Amino acid sequence: MTGSYGQIGTELIEELRARYGGENVIATGRKKPPEILRKDGPYYRLDVLDNDHLHNMLVDYDIDIIIHNASVLSAVGEKNPQLAYRTNVEGAYNVLEAARILKMDQVMIPSSIAAFGPSTPKENTPNDVIMRPTTAYGVSKVFIELWGEYYVERYGVDFRSLRYPGIISSETLPGGGTTDYAVEIFYEALKNKEYTCFLAEDAMLPMMYMPDCIKSTIDLIEAKEDNLEHRSFNVTAMSFTPADIAAEIKKHIPDFEIHYEPDFRQKIAESWPRSLDDSAAREEWGWNPDYDLAAMTKDMLETLSKRLGLKY
Ligand code: SER
Repeated sequence: MTGSYGQIGTELIEELRARYGGENVIATGRKKPPEILRKDGPYYRLDVLDNDHLHNMLVDYDIDIIIHNASVLSAVGEKNPQLAYRTNVEGAYNVLEAARILKMDQVMIPSSIAAFGPSTPKENTPNDVIMRPTTAYGVSKVFIELWGEYYVERYGVDFRSLRYPGIISSETLPGGGTTDYAVEIFYEALKNKEYTCFLAEDAMLPMMYMPDCIKSTIDLIEAKEDNLEHRSFNVTAMSFTPADIAAEIKKHIPDFEIHYEPDFRQKIAESWPRSLDDSAAREEWGWNPDYDLAAMTKDMLETLSKRLGLKY
């Protein structure tokens, strides 16, 4: 896995190691990793832009499947589009090329709701629909989907992709996205009983709790290739606005207060779907989420308050 110390990577590595054995799941990234990534299996430094090193690792460690999670997210991508291009487009190109040349068994590269744009229907957005994103991150995700699907047809590479919605989790903070508010809000609610949101109160976006994110990823990796009509799938578990999640948190922390100071990320949010139709994922590989807004909020507050040692 690339990008292993990211929000999704750290928790996905743990689950993959529990399932397939620690030694069989190699965590990689550019930084010195948190202890958790060295605990049950190997961690190596890898920059996906270093093509030679990427090929060496795949051959030397006899890798079958690459999960390519390294990515610059939407908000950071708007601050530095050239970095988003290099990391997201060139990085994914290197990984897909390595999969083709080395005849890997499978390549999983996440896509995102950011792959959609202002001209996409916003409610119950279908799997196959006009995309035309307006962020550097979104453009890079469309490239990944289309280049991956091209390699499926042209070279028989087993490419798979999930269009993740905003992911809410308690272990590792997200790294510079537009949906990060839905994680930050829990930390601030527990620490200060107050949160200033960088999106407007009615900015509805599709979301998913980390256990569902892990489940969807592993289910798609393990799905029989013959069952897949698509290669890039909408997945979702819930949709909510900042006002909705604040009201849900208030049920547990009655004096919690939210304020709104929308910044440049509001425009990004407005260009994305408000809800997704994930019926292709449900039909082709049995996707079915476990957590709605109420169940996620309860679990987040319990888990995070234990971890931070804060009562509520
Ligand atoms: N969570 C991501 C972001 O906000 C969306 O894929 O950038």
